[in-house]
Amino acid sequence: MKVFVIHGPNLNMLGTREPEIYGSFTLEDVNKRLMSLASELDIELSTIQSNSEAEIIDAIQKKDYDLIIINPAAYTHTSIAIRDSVSAAGKPVIEVHISNIHKREEFRRRSYIAEVSYGQISGFGVDSYLLALRAAKNILSK
Ligand code: DQA
Repeated sequence: MKVFVIHGPNLNMLGTREPEIYGSFTLEDVNKRLMSLASELDIELSTIQSNSEAEIIDAIQKKDYDLIIINPAAYTHTSIAIRDSVSAAGKPVIEVHISNIHKREEFRRRSYIAEVSYGQISGFGVDSYLLALRAAKNILSK
């Protein structure tokens, strides 16, 4: 069971980036917690972070995974290119957000990814990722 976690732009700044919105945990904290849950669930996990739309698309196209968990960050609201690669992936994709994107500015309510993803988890802080990993286990166990 291989799960690939993709962290989009600016998520490398977690910990110092608007902590009132995103919390004070770092990206390393998120990945450590994911790794520990993955070993509990017997999931092989790999992660990347990229600020580049092209790199995210290249990663999705590699297909060396059974399921993707992606926080596309700001590209959620702008990228038809990432949406098309998710749609063509042929594998389940779970969209994750740390903050509740439906409770913020109007422009964040639109997700190009949601329409082509298995489901969206939004607003639970670092737990959004952990909930997504538990959902991934259930989806892949079916
Ligand atoms: C985010 C929400 C996006 O609107 C924002 O651009 C981000 C992070 C989240 O995890 O809450 O960079 O995806």
